[in-house]
Amino acid sequence: MKLTEKEQALLAGNHGPGLKKAMEILLALGKIYGAKDMAPVTSAQIAGVSYKNIGDPGLAFLTDWANQNARVHIPAFMNPAGIDRQLWRQLGFPEAFAHKQIEIIEVLKRMGVRATLTCTPYHIGIVPQKGEHIAWSESSAVSYANSILGARTNREGGPSALAAAFCGRTPRFGLHLHENRLATHRVLVNCKLESSADFGLLGYLIGKQVGNGIPFFQGIELPKEEAERTTCLKSLGAAMAASGAVALYHIEGCTPEAKMYGERIIKPTTDVLEISSLDEAKIALDHEGNQIDLVTLGCPHASLEELKDIARIIGNQQLKKPLWIASSAIVREDARANGILEMIEKAGGKVLADTCMVVAPLGEMGIKYIATNSAKAATYLPSHQGAIVHFGTTEQCIQAAIQGKWKN
Ligand code: F3S
Repeated sequence: MKLTEKEQALLAGNHGPGLKKAMEILLALGKIYGAKDMAPVTSAQIAGVSYKNIGDPGLAFLTDWANQNARVHIPAFMNPAGIDRQLWRQLGFPEAFAHKQIEIIEVLKRMGVRATLTCTPYHIGIVPQKGEHIAWSESSAVSYANSILGARTNREGGPSALAAAFCGRTPRFGLHLHENRLATHRVLVNCKLESSADFGLLGYLIGKQVGNGIPFFQGIELPKEEAERTTCLKSLGAAMAASGAVALYHIEGCTPEAKMYGERIIKPTTDVLEISSLDEAKIALDHEGNQIDLVTLGCPHASLEELKDIARIIGNQQLKKPLWIASSAIVREDARANGILEMIEKAGGKVLADTCMVVAPLGEMGIKYIATNSAKAATYLPSHQGAIVHFGTTEQCIQAAIQGKWKN
């Protein structure tokens, strides 16, 4: 690989052992994937924050790196952790888990990573521009940044995203190169998508079929209103990243590269898929029975507009079952300032910051029957939390919390 003088100096250890290790990781990745050089990156989003996912070995790894004086040199921010730092006691999160989790966050802070603790950094003003190289790691954030913003990132692992944050670069391969951003599948959508849950169902079906391919969608009718459109697109991308490993998709006439290149963004030999019904996905994600312990929304993390919508649907009804909506601390504060948080809390709901239903220790807390409007969450909850899941629209989920049971 061709390295600049600065990169060679990092590799030689002239900037300390922590940055030397980071450069070694980047170089090793670059060699494996055939990168010719490094691309400068403008931000890094660090996954692998939850104690539930990385445990003591992960905490030890991060602590070692911090002790080697490794510090970030570009804006870097954290993915959700396993607790809400404000509400964990009130919500009954296990004490030992919470302390370990706080230790992880503190170590990352010591290295200069901002404790945004969200998978939707684009809802809190972190919005990379088209063509910008970044090193993000949470799969739905990666999908959104590549597809909707037109930025360029591979799906980084936690350590490689941190290494990129320390060195300000990442090996130039995969989705950093235009030729690897061409669609591998043409997807003709012949059914109506009526809610963000429907976009999630479509994503679930396509992710299963294309794996780590790049779909080009045709026939999707998107909501006219921008906030609603954003919610639907993030739901689609998150689901495809969960049931498959889709890190980039294009939509005819909508996403930046589809607009810019038209049909030229599709590979000449491309498989064609046709989707006429979402029933198969509904059957796969929604389980039998009426029991619910928890209704959870906000996967990916909710925007202020989604919180407003949830407050509007609840109105002045009271919830019989817990409703937790995952979001970021910044959006929750905005919701507080707007009176939205008070409306949700008055009904008995909670807006959780810093965490989510997949990376929090819900299984350990005895929460088993979970309703959600997120196809990504519905895909992961059975394996990550041992949960039995009900899947439906936002309205159906809120109605379930009000009535205390799931209606099939
Ligand atoms: Fe985000 Fe957690 Fe869903 S990290 S995309 S809310 S699984």
